[in-house]
Formats: sequence, structure tokens, C-alpha cells
Amino acid sequence: MVNIVVVGSSSMDLVVTADKRPKAGETLIGESFQTVPGGKGANQAVAAARLGANVSMIGRVGKDAFGKEILDNLKKNGVSVNHVEPVPHLSSGTAHITLAEGDNSIIFVKGANDEVTPSYLEKADSILKEADMIMVQQEIPEETVEYIADFCNQFNKKWLLNPAPARKISDNVIESATYLTPNEHEFTVMFGEENRSEVLARYPNKLLITEGKNGVRYFNGECEEVVPSFVVEAVDTTGAGDTFNAAFAVAVAEGKTIKEALRFANRAASISITKFGAQGGMPTREEVEGNF
Ligand code: RIB
Ligand code: NA
Repeated sequence: MVNIVVVGSSSMDLVVTADKRPKAGETLIGESFQTVPGGKGANQAVAAARLGANVSMIGRVGKDAFGKEILDNLKKNGVSVNHVEPVPHLSSGTAHITLAEGDNSIIFVKGANDEVTPSYLEKADSILKEADMIMVQQEIPEETVEYIADFCNQFNKKWLLNPAPARKISDNVIESATYLTPNEHEFTVMFGEENRSEVLARYPNKLLITEGKNGVRYFNGECEEVVPSFVVEAVDTTGAGDTFNAAFAVAVAEGKTIKEALRFANRAASISITKFGAQGGMPTREEVEGNF
């Protein structure tokens, strides 16, 4: 079993389904409302655990009903939560999601996730040092990502940054990361209008651009390569990126080549979108391997 440590967010997803999304000042009648556990960090932790990794999460919840549900859900999925401590004065993170016209739109409210700080991480030093792969996303403070970059340089650790949601990131982080997995929008925020092929060639076997239905593009040291995605009937694409990142991290940590790991990850992500909810549909190892 590989050791995966996720440093990241956890949230409750408040999901409304409707025919279309309202314009400013408009009120529409929706179809349904559900609360399901989410947050990019927690989603990646759950996805990695379902795929058979040994997973610890470093995060924060609020001291509220959502926080309790988030913790229970992580435990139920086999994720170790010794380093997911409640913050007394803040609410749990929430993601306000509208599913309409075949796509989602999301407003994320950080709440307790803002307390996943460098000083909080210092207390989890020993589990970070034992990780085969550390996974990080951007629903936590920027200085925490910098802390991981420096920590991984110092202790020679492998880490993956899923740069979502998009923000500009420092050269220090880009250089330190073992893998970077922006989608096309995040790529543009990170690298501006620079020529994509030139940027890819600068970061061989590291920069993996996810292009949704079109697959994943990277430079393999000799040429640009696209690993195609699997076509399925999508019910809910929320969390597909998280499933992809977790599956890729688990597979490379296990020793698969980048190309094999990307294929495994694409397969896992495609299964995840066939069910409602970020974590609904996240596959087990058997489901992924039975589906090639
Ligand atoms: O990546 C999907 C996740 O991001 C959702 O579960 C939601 O929490 C959003 O912030
Ligand atoms: Na899903």
C-alpha cells in the first residue's frame, strides 16, 4: 500500500439542480436540493482511499454539524483524520453548487479551511515525512502551498499540486512540484498567453494539462503526447478532477509510468461522473481495473 497525504480543503457541498441558472436579479424555481460531502482535498483523499491507498488528511473543519458529517464521512471511507481538527470560531467550508444545463457552477466559501496554515502543518511533520506522495490543491492559503514546496525540497518528497481553483502561482512552487495538473483555464491563469507547447516542453513529465473530453496533454521528454479520456454519459462532473488527481497520484506512487497512470486516472474520472455528487461514483480499484 502506498502512503498518500492530502493537505487540503474539506467542505459540505450544497447542491441545487435546476433547468437553468438565474440571471442577476432573477428568481427561478429549482428542482432539488441535497447536501453531500465535498471539498477538493477531502474528495481527493476519499478517491485515493477507495483505490486502495493508505490515506491521511491534513485539514480543518468547523465546530458545527457539517464538520461532524465531514469527519464521519472521511472515517467511513477509511481516511485517517488525526490531523483534521475543528476550528472553534469558524464554520465548515461550504461549496454552493448549481447543476444546470449539463454543467456545474460553484461558489466556494473557505470557512475553517483558511486555518490550514503553515504552523498547523508543522504539527503534522512526521506524517508528511512518511508520505510516498503529498497532494495539494488551492482551496487553502497560498502560504501553505509555499510551505509544502519548501518542505518537499528539503526532505526530497514527491508532491502533486492540483492548481484548482485557479490562481497565479510562484516559480518556487512550480519548480518544486513533482506534478502540476492544471486544466486549460488554470493553465492560462498560471502561464498567461505563453505558447502552450513551449511551456509543456519546459516541464517534461511534470506539467499535465487536463483537457476534459480531449484527454491529458504533456511533454514526455521527446514529444507532446495526449492520453485520451474515456467517453461516458455524464450525470455530474463535479469531483471528476479530484478523482483524476487521486488516481494519478496513487498509480505513480505505486510505480506505474506516467502514461499508464494517466490512463488509469482517466478511467477512474470517467466512472466518477456517472453518478451524482463529487464523491458519488468515485470508483474502487476493482471498478477501474474491470473497465479498461
Ligand atoms: O472539485 C470539486 C469540489 O470543489 C466540490 O466538491 C466542491 O467542494 C468544490 O469546492
Ligand atoms: Na460523481
